[in-house]
Formats: sequence, structure tokens, C-alpha cells
Amino acid sequence: MSFKFKTSSISSAPRSSSAWDRPLPDPPRAMMPKDFGQYGHYRPGALADNAAMPISFAGRAACEECHADVVEGRAGHKHEHVGCEACHGALAAHAETRAE
Ligand code: HEC
Ligand code: HEC
Repeated sequence: MSFKFKTSSISSAPRSSSAWDRPLPDPPRAMMPKDFGQYGHYRPGALADNAAMPISFAGRAACEECHADVVEGRAGHKHEHVGCEACHGALAAHAETRAE
């Protein structure tokens, strides 16, 4: 079975003056962060913004300090190398408060 796409009607269609033909308006600069566009679409200031956010993951090393028994028990298990917080969720607050 063959299928032929009829292109003639497309290419010969008269172009009507529509919204597509008008130049795009300038973006509303007042609403744009100043550093947007400096490195393409990545806004460099996002690094500082993210760094200022509270840490939610403690990282495996922190868990291991107090839960060495769990690490031991998981040795040889299929999920041995899965990060603790992948299953237990972000527990930075837990690691922090338990340390007090
Ligand atoms: C400063 C020590 C400390 C750190 C660091 C720590 N925990 Fe704990 N955690 C504890 C203590 C103490 C308990 C309560 C006693 C217990 O159940 O062993 C506990 C309990 C738990 C429980 C059981 C909670 C329940 O409802 O029974 C889980 C799951 C857990 N921790 C996971 C983690 C993970 C994942 C990390 C790393 C992000 C972590 N912990 C880091 C000390 C710590
Ligand atoms: C694949 C998912 C998974 C991963 C990865 C994982 N856990 Fe668990 N963990 C569980 C489940 C499910 C339970 C509940 C088991 C139960 O109730 O018998 C549990 C229970 C616990 C408990 C409760 C106390 C205990 O001994 O039963 C602690 C503490 C704990 N995990 C810590 C950790 C730490 C630390 C790591 C990283 C070294 C880790 N877990 C990695 C799924 C996971």
C-alpha cells in the first residue's frame, strides 16, 4: 500500500496576511531577569539562587554514620548501591536533628 501526500495544495496556497507574518513583539523586558540571555537560555543567577535554597538531601555518607548496621545488612542485596534517600526520601532534616 502506498500513500502519497499531496503537497501541491500547500505550496501553491496563497499566503494570507495573518498573525504569523507579523514580527514578534519585543519581550516584556521589565519582567525578564537581567542576566537572562547572557549564556543562552541558562540564567547564570540560577546557580546562586539554588545554592541559597535549604539543603534537603543529606547524602548517603551522612546516613552511614548513624546507620552502619543498615549498610551492613544491605551488603550483597540487589539494592545495595541504591542511594538511601532514593527510597526514604530527602532526609537532611532527619540527619540534622538526630545529630543534636
Ligand atoms: C545523627 C544520626 C543519624 C543520621 C545522620 C541519620 N539517622 Fe536515621 N535515625 C537515627 C536515629 C537515632 C533513628 C531512630 C532509631 C532507629 O530507628 O534506629 C533513626 C531512624 C531512621 C529511620 C527509621 C524511621 C522509622 O520510622 O522507624 C530511617 C528510615 C532512617 N533513620 C533513615 C535515615 C537516612 C536515609 C539517613 C540519611 C539521609 C539517616 N537516617 C541519617 C539517626 C540518624
Ligand atoms: C530500595 C529501597 C531502600 C533503600 C535503597 C534503602 N532503604 Fe532503608 N528501608 C527500606 C524499606 C522498604 C524499609 C522498611 C523495612 C521494613 O519495614 O521491614 C527500610 C527500613 C529502614 C530503616 C528502619 C530500621 C530498620 O533497620 O528496619 C532504616 C534505619 C533504614 N531503612 C535506613 C536506610 C539507610 C541508611 C539506607 C542507605 C544505606 C537505606 N535505608 C536504603 C527501603 C530502602
